[in-house]
Amino acid sequence: MFRPEWSRTLARKMTRNLRTKRVYLSPPHLDGRERKLLLQAFDSNWITTLGPHVDAFEKEMCEKVGVKNAAALVSGTAALHLALLMLGVRAGDEVLCSDLTFAATANVITYLGATPVFIDSNQSTWNMDPELLSKELDACTHRGKLPKAVIVVDIYGQCADYDPITEVCEKYQIPIIEDAAEALGATYKKTYAGKLGVMGVFSFNGNKIITTSGGGMLVSDNEEYINRARFLSTQARDPAPHYQHSHIGYNYRLSNLLAAVGRGQLEWLEKKVARRRAINEFYRKALGMLPGIKFMPESPYGKSNCWLTVILINPGEFGAGREKVRVALEQENIESRPMWKPMHMQPVFRGYRVCGGEVSEDLFEHGLCLPSGTQMTQEDLNRIVNIVKSCCRAFEGGAL
Ligand SMILES: Cc1ncc(COP(=O)(O)O)c(C=O)c1O
Repeated sequence: MFRPEWSRTLARKMTRNLRTKRVYLSPPHLDGRERKLLLQAFDSNWITTLGPHVDAFEKEMCEKVGVKNAAALVSGTAALHLALLMLGVRAGDEVLCSDLTFAATANVITYLGATPVFIDSNQSTWNMDPELLSKELDACTHRGKLPKAVIVVDIYGQCADYDPITEVCEKYQIPIIEDAAEALGATYKKTYAGKLGVMGVFSFNGNKIITTSGGGMLVSDNEEYINRARFLSTQARDPAPHYQHSHIGYNYRLSNLLAAVGRGQLEWLEKKVARRRAINEFYRKALGMLPGIKFMPESPYGKSNCWLTVILINPGEFGAGREKVRVALEQENIESRPMWKPMHMQPVFRGYRVCGGEVSEDLFEHGLCLPSGTQMTQEDLNRIVNIVKSCCRAFEGGAL
């Protein structure tokens, strides 16, 4: 049944939305140098996948992360795919991977006809639980089939707990691929994210801490892996004057134009991390005292880049659930997002093996990613905080 006041409310909201600035979750933030470098690349006519900016971007990433070799690619997904190829993953193999992640981490396993097995997070890091990993590797041994690799994700910019994960993987001689797509600039015991497995993967997708519009990088101390990844990423051409191919290749190399943008972005990495951390700190101070609100814990072993600030909302204590808060923000033209839906809950991965699963399910049900873009103003932040507070029962009752 239609009620006229509905259309009036809607009209009021729409007018307000036209007036209020849209705040996005994590939009790109260009600092200025990108344009200069991009035009330089353009004017030099090096606009394809070969060029000085690609080489320089790889070198500068190596310096930032502390790794020896890097291959600039079209996406983080491409980097993950090549990483699995380097380790010889093929049809029929199993690959263990973090359950709480973006789908790309698990999708690439299936590109090779292999099977993902999902390992739940623990409460203290929200990253892969080393104990569950250990149990699963024991079980794999008993079944007589060890996985070919483990993909460990550094979720929302915080490194997983690599010491126990590495110890158990070394025991079974299983290589680790570090999916650091979200974690550029984060550290684990003073080692930079990306350097904690045999290979590391970064994404420069538009919502990441630095962006090339779309792009990714595979890094490793192992030169052979990176040389081979470069070879496969440029259609695996044999060294011949004509087009000859002895291997299946891919069109995965980053263009010189986009590498130029990446270089401009990378110059400000530390500033961007500091800003994201300051935003996180602001949210903690402004919302941390509300009943039923918890923040993603920052583990003492490292420093998160705070790519996204994530809160957990306990509806009983707070007086509203995650979805109600998300809709309240959306009505005021502010984008927020539920946390990643765990892989074992995804229709496409129904029936795949999962170890645990309760932690990631609970995080998904209650977790909300707040806008964390480095360009946000204090006014934007105050708006967000006030809307979240207005959803809280104690706030409505005047108790705060
Ligand atoms: C954890 C994780 N892995 C992989 C990817 C894939 O990266 P890309 O979008 O660059 O392919 C992303 C993000 O997009 C991600 O968040």
